[in-house]
Amino acid sequence: MQLTTTQGNIVEQSTDAIVVNLFEGITEPGGATGAVDRALGGAIRRLIGSGDFTGEAGATALLYSQGALPAERVLVVGLGKQDQFDLKAARKAAASAHKALSQLKGVRQYATVIHGAGAGGLEPQAAAQALAEGALLAAYQAPNYKREKPPAGPESGVVVEFDGAQLDTITAGVNAGQAIATAVCHARDYVSEPANILYPEAFARRARQMAEEVGLACTVLGEAEMRELGMGILLAVSQGSAREAQLIILEHTPPGTEEQQPLVLVGKGITFDTGGISIKPWDGMWLMKDDMGGAAAVIGALEAIARLGISRQVIGVAVCVENMPDGNSFRPGDILTGITGKTCEILSTDAEGRLVLADALGYVARYSPAAVVDLATLTGAIGVALGPQAAGLFANNDALRESLLAAAEKTGERLWPMPLYEEYMEEIKGEMAEVKNSGGRMGGVGTSAKFIEHFTEGYPWAHLDIAAMVWTNNERNPATPKGATGYGVRLLVELAGQI
Ligand code: BES
Ligand code: MN
Ligand code: ZN
Repeated sequence: MQLTTTQGNIVEQSTDAIVVNLFEGITEPGGATGAVDRALGGAIRRLIGSGDFTGEAGATALLYSQGALPAERVLVVGLGKQDQFDLKAARKAAASAHKALSQLKGVRQYATVIHGAGAGGLEPQAAAQALAEGALLAAYQAPNYKREKPPAGPESGVVVEFDGAQLDTITAGVNAGQAIATAVCHARDYVSEPANILYPEAFARRARQMAEEVGLACTVLGEAEMRELGMGILLAVSQGSAREAQLIILEHTPPGTEEQQPLVLVGKGITFDTGGISIKPWDGMWLMKDDMGGAAAVIGALEAIARLGISRQVIGVAVCVENMPDGNSFRPGDILTGITGKTCEILSTDAEGRLVLADALGYVARYSPAAVVDLATLTGAIGVALGPQAAGLFANNDALRESLLAAAEKTGERLWPMPLYEEYMEEIKGEMAEVKNSGGRMGGVGTSAKFIEHFTEGYPWAHLDIAAMVWTNNERNPATPKGATGYGVRLLVELAGQI
């Protein structure tokens, strides 16, 4: 799906469908919707009068123009209440409209107005970006290995702006939205792919190819290099796997930022989590292919950051390992030493995410980062606590926490602050080593974050537990089809643009 912009009048567009909008409770539509209504002889006012369509957020109504307009169809999308309208509502409107049109076999292309730049009071560029994000995120189709492919939705859309003086602003917004949504969809692809297709080396190949396309520096460390660096905690997790672990490093260094302290993003990339010797039950284990959702978000974010040409230095580190049971596997009771020299004792080989992060967070100290943010599908317990409504946010620095909360608010990728109480440390004190990798059931989210904090090296740091965010089984949000969500990409791009 490709989006372009043009100066013109929506009423005059000759295409399969045009999209106009309506705030809830409006009975006399104005602007573009009013113009279309007049051309249709009052059909939209009659639609409202019938009571079938109230302009509720995300609702759609389809009218056939029957020759009254050059376009075959008119789709009216509800924007909800005007005083509650925001970027999230604009994204939802565009996504709902795209989804409704993709259910019509005859719609290959459509034209749309921007939602909310006029009466909605949004900045035109931000509204255009939200429109592009909503439409392209709704258009996503996961990788498919069936011989017969599902029907594809519309191939192209054109965003129509009446005011020629605004066209450049609108185009910039649409292009930004398109760059970001493309990267989110790539992150969704990585998460969707099963572990026999996307294992650490395959993931590294994809990252390298993407880096070449968008102009990022890409370095991949294999197991020999990681052994050389002393990353014994990470390597222990990889021991039972026939696949080699990979540390994927992507660097975005715009000219003149070589000396800047970088923002460093770290992603948990367990390409499959069986639990290892502390093996998980079979039921639902297939979904542990999504245990690299943090790495996918980081690699996706770096792609978007490069495409947008964001003017600060950003480094992405994806720590990619497969957690398998085998004769070579690490065991409960094992004592490990990592890159920082800090030691840890294994209680469960299924608490592997914090282990690979321990070495990744030790590794990134070499960049003297301005801030480090890690994203990880770390605990089942975060889903029990917050559900799929928000990721858990832990931070050792107030300014970083505030920046992340602001980015979450702006993008709608919610975060909820969680504590890093000193007392959690008591629960994870080791017998023979400094720390142990599980503090038991009580406070399992807090102790996992506390474990990771132990391996940070003095820099401002935040940890996002995204275990409940990376996959969805429902279609409640039209911009997030069933399956991989790509959660975190938009949040991190927003953060990189802010700090
Ligand atoms: N990858 C899992 C966490 C997870 C669980 C993600 C469910 C998504 C859905 C993680 O590696 C894990 O197994 N965590 C354990 C930790 C425990 C052994 C201390 C958990 O949450 O049960
Ligand atoms: Mn696990
Ligand atoms: Zn895991």
